[in-house]
Amino acid sequence: MNFEEKIRQLLDKRVEARLGGGQKRIDSQHAKGKLTARERIALLLDEGSFEEFDMFVTHRCTDFGMEKQVFLSDGVVTGYGTIDGRLVYVFSQDFTVFGGSLSESFAKKICKVMDMAMKAGAPVIGLNDSGGARIQEGVQSLAGYAEIFQRNIMASGVIPQFSAIFGPCAGGAVYSPALTDFIMMSKENSYMFVTGPKVVKTVTNEDVTEDKLGGALVHASKSGVAHFVVENEQEGLEFLRKLIGFIPSNNLEEAPLVPCNDPINRLEDSLNSIIPDNPNKPYDVLEVIQGIADNGEFVEVHKLFAQNLVVGFIHLNGQSVGVVANNPKYFAGVLDINASRKGARFVRFCDAFNIPILTLVDVPGFLPGTVQEYGGIIIHGAKFLFAYGEATVPKITVTLRKSYGGAHDVMSCKQLRGDINYAWPSAEIAVMGASGAIAVLNGKEISSIENPEDRQKFTNEKVKEYEDKFANPYNAAKYGFVDDIIEPRNTRFRVIRALNALATKKDVNPPKKHSNIPL
Ligand code: HXC
Repeated sequence: MNFEEKIRQLLDKRVEARLGGGQKRIDSQHAKGKLTARERIALLLDEGSFEEFDMFVTHRCTDFGMEKQVFLSDGVVTGYGTIDGRLVYVFSQDFTVFGGSLSESFAKKICKVMDMAMKAGAPVIGLNDSGGARIQEGVQSLAGYAEIFQRNIMASGVIPQFSAIFGPCAGGAVYSPALTDFIMMSKENSYMFVTGPKVVKTVTNEDVTEDKLGGALVHASKSGVAHFVVENEQEGLEFLRKLIGFIPSNNLEEAPLVPCNDPINRLEDSLNSIIPDNPNKPYDVLEVIQGIADNGEFVEVHKLFAQNLVVGFIHLNGQSVGVVANNPKYFAGVLDINASRKGARFVRFCDAFNIPILTLVDVPGFLPGTVQEYGGIIIHGAKFLFAYGEATVPKITVTLRKSYGGAHDVMSCKQLRGDINYAWPSAEIAVMGASGAIAVLNGKEISSIENPEDRQKFTNEKVKEYEDKFANPYNAAKYGFVDDIIEPRNTRFRVIRALNALATKKDVNPPKKHSNIPL
């Protein structure tokens, strides 16, 4: 073979590799409304930036006649490229080759990019579309998964890891995405479950479809497994590009600073009238977040899960900030098991990756009842509390309205090392709400009054007395538990100033192997 022929051979092999499992299977992938592994990478990365590794890798299995079915790349496309000029590593499972199932060689390819990402301090993005363990390879495949899991664990908190689910993701295979920081699922074609509908039927006699068991909406709203749900793959890939813009490349860096054309001293007059006079009336905390954020832009995480707590990313003067906010629009903004899990996970992510946290508080307390207690609200609430107490990033708290009881402590109070704690004049920082307090303090007296009118009058007087004393921010301010009481419309620039003041903040936790967060 002369030199020219050798070059031709290389180019032919590249063409062959790019065809994955062949045109027929590519057509079938498209017919399902799915993109191929390479098409996905092309949409995800900056144009022309993808550098592929291991295109010529093949499996080494000789059982079940596998030696006759060999495809270049072996079902996963791996390499690196850029997003908005920033380095990222990527693997994209190719369903056209043995249903994207994982062989020993396939696993090695993923491990290689994960190892390189760790050395470079760059994020890893996994695009998942796979029938799970390659059945013909048996235990080799299980070992391959475990190699990936171990790397997911070592990379956790060092480089950000993102998983997009664009097809099946079942059995033990779900645990690699579950070990990453964010899971995104497309409404079309994606599902995740530990055991599929057939096994469910055999074991529990339940009839359930794939979608009902592990579709995108189920995981986004019920289990909380999925942080994001998108209509289709194109939207998902575009969204990943946006999300990554809020996050640093590794735990030693800051998130990228973006240009800010929204005046930092912009007054948001709407916030001066957002709190209803009736303390039991809801409002939407999203409006507060949007009023504060640069250009009103908010990337919400876990949007459909535990909606009584809102978490996500904004920019403030171009700096990435994680927002945690109770939302009175849903269940009065109460803290329950799911909200606690959601909040804890988000706070820990921000802390691991040097993203300051802005906490907006309007919380009536923890949700009472047997469902919550049997479900372990004590442990889950403790998780959220632990996450805040452990976090050393700048923590700014603004109490908008209620901040009662244990929930007050959890929501980044001063004593959990809240750095700068502000309150609006509408804040009510107390052990509990007025009617609950009066029932405890004056219950016997109240029930001993026989005349209903007198009883009501007495109760109203006591409630008013309690409200005057405690349903305000001044009592907490008296002790220095809030640093200042601010006019709501000034919140944006007060928080931006606070962030500037905290830019050089240093705080450390005592040396230890690791903490024992209540899991
Ligand atoms: C080898 C596989 C495969 C697998 C699919 N294929 N899954 N080959 N190992 N796990 C092949 C099929 O033979 C077929 O080959 C091609 O991929 C496409 O599959 P279809 O069944 O035609 O596609 P579709 O109808 O879309 O169904 C997709 C599917 C189904 C739902 C994923 O293929 C399926 O149920 N596969 C088995 C899933 C499974 O049980 N995996 C093991 C789970 S246990 P041809 O040549 O026809 O194109 C596990 C343990 C992990 O993963 C443990 C980690 C700790």
